[in-house]
Amino acid sequence: MDKPTYYITTPIYYPSDKLHIGHSYTTVAADAMARYKRLRGYDVMFLTGTDEHGQKIERVAKEAGVSPKEFVDGIVDWIKVLWNDMDITYDKFIRTTDDDHKETVQKIFKRLYDQGDIYKSIYEGLYCTPCEAFFTEHQLVDGMCPDCGRDVEDVKEESYFFKLSKYQDDLIKHIEENPDFIQPKSRKNEMLNNFLRPGLEDLCVSRTSFDWGIPVEFDKGHVVYVWIDALSNYITALGYLSEDDEKFRRYWPADVHLVGKEIIRFHTIIWPALLMALDIPLPKQIFGHGWLVIDGGKMSKSVGNVVDPKILIDRYGSDAIRYFLLREVAFGQDGNFSNENLINRINSDLANDFGNLVSRSVTMVEKYFEGTLPEDQEANEFDEGVQKLIEEAIKNAEDHMEKLLFNEALNDIWTIVRRLNKYIDETTPWILAKDEANNKILANVLYTLVEGIRIVTVMIEPFMPQTPAKVWEQIGVKEGELTSWDSIKKWGSMPRTLSVKRGEIIFPRIDLKKELAQLEKDASKAKKKVKTKEEPKLEEITIDEFFKSELKIGEVLECEPVPKTDKLLVSKIKVGNEVRQIVSGIAEYYTPEEFVGKKVVVVTNLKPVKLRGILSEGMVLCASDDEGNLVAVGPLEDIKDGSMVK
Ligand code: ME8
Ligand code: MG
Repeated sequence: MDKPTYYITTPIYYPSDKLHIGHSYTTVAADAMARYKRLRGYDVMFLTGTDEHGQKIERVAKEAGVSPKEFVDGIVDWIKVLWNDMDITYDKFIRTTDDDHKETVQKIFKRLYDQGDIYKSIYEGLYCTPCEAFFTEHQLVDGMCPDCGRDVEDVKEESYFFKLSKYQDDLIKHIEENPDFIQPKSRKNEMLNNFLRPGLEDLCVSRTSFDWGIPVEFDKGHVVYVWIDALSNYITALGYLSEDDEKFRRYWPADVHLVGKEIIRFHTIIWPALLMALDIPLPKQIFGHGWLVIDGGKMSKSVGNVVDPKILIDRYGSDAIRYFLLREVAFGQDGNFSNENLINRINSDLANDFGNLVSRSVTMVEKYFEGTLPEDQEANEFDEGVQKLIEEAIKNAEDHMEKLLFNEALNDIWTIVRRLNKYIDETTPWILAKDEANNKILANVLYTLVEGIRIVTVMIEPFMPQTPAKVWEQIGVKEGELTSWDSIKKWGSMPRTLSVKRGEIIFPRIDLKKELAQLEKDASKAKKKVKTKEEPKLEEITIDEFFKSELKIGEVLECEPVPKTDKLLVSKIKVGNEVRQIVSGIAEYYTPEEFVGKKVVVVTNLKPVKLRGILSEGMVLCASDDEGNLVAVGPLEDIKDGSMVK
């Protein structure tokens, strides 16, 4: 019998910048769903990729002095490595620069033109380059782009238009008749009331003012403008209108397009209208998730508040990050990212609740039964309750997964974890173990724990794909029948005489205070890195101008921190016949003890200034790199203090 199919997509990402943890959020969610559906026996198609055309990339590449293609190639490689590091199991990675995508987009454009859904006219409008979106005057907020708040440009050019307005009524009808089409529900009303009912304008779908795009075949000055190119990826990736469209026939319509809330509008209005025009079925669902925010603002590269997923993965492992993203944020709503929340989650849910459960249980089987349980076991009064709770939790998790409510599904799974921990307290195995007469009861208690752990471990695989193998090794399970979803619905699938082998701690506890301090240090290093990189090149000066500064060798005699700052040191520096007091911003790099005795280069004719109320008569020269390192500059060989530097 043919497996049922499941087609899920992420948006295709702009490679104009490296991705941050906010981007990983969409992809991790899609991956969890793809893995879940595979586990449930579906033939899954999970698509992700990159959206590589447009004026912005053309500009950025030019600034970098490379061709747009060269520019995006490097970033796309980097993105693929990131997805690999996060255990993302996409089935296809589409690039809008792929030849077959470009060909199909041209065919789509031509078909729509031939049938009268695309026509030529003059476009006059306000364009936001970073967002690649046109706006009308009244859509602007304070004259700025309503999405990103930046300047918009006036443009007037010959363009092709898609007859979006023609589909308005059909769209309204479809959205009203298919309550699941737009999720979460709140977004549906927003689309209807703010965009569809006020009326749709036709959509500009070609540009002549830049070249980096798919050429309109029959009108060479034009390139296809963003949305027909970008949105079509969901069907070009399946071979739509190509010689081999087997995948299109198999997987289309998509079960769900996962998108961030700022692009729901394009996916629930433009995309279905295009599909209607092409006379192919609409996707079953568009799910708009919220943003990962930091202190209430959307994490975004231009705001400069991004969190690099790579750093987090290297520190905590990709499973912990994936867990955090899907557990902490209610899918559909915005969620706040903070290192503290992340570490607290890891400690409480992963290290304490789950990790401890596994290591305690395994340890007890080793301690009380030398690693293998006896066949003879006897149930206790708590067993039924535990089994019932597990049965229910599985059902709830399944329901929540169907609705893409990942945080709820994880919570369901953790009700099992917490119940098992409570079961340990209720049955007190360490007391049972005191009397051999209790062996049968004790064996059953430990069996219940391990069987429960097995069930939990099967269920967490979509979220934390690396953890199961570690658990299987400890509880002696081989990948196969016992790791299938079906097997968790039948209590007692593990053999009663199971064997365990203690292994490493799966999620070590993190010292919150220490870790936060370390992260802060790293972050300030990274910030400095950015700062030094952006230092502008100074204009040329003559040698006379250079010699306006007087530089001399000085020896540091005394040094102490400046009170109430953590950056400044104040030193007494001997320069020939005089001793100068100089304040330097070097406290993060030298302790006062380290600095005393050093010979350094001092600028001696600087106007004295007061820093934090302390007189500073000169400046110590330092060198800093873009990694956040700083050293004071001194002579290569020893030389008297007071010597001139020139
Ligand atoms: O929009 N929190 O690409 P993109 C959560 N190329 N999600 C975030 C986020 C954050 N802080 N920042 C970004 C595009 N995202 C178009 C899509 S589809 C045919 C074309 C999500 O790289 C964002 O919401 O700007 C979107 O879903 C995805 O990352 C890609 O964003
Ligand atoms: Mg965006």
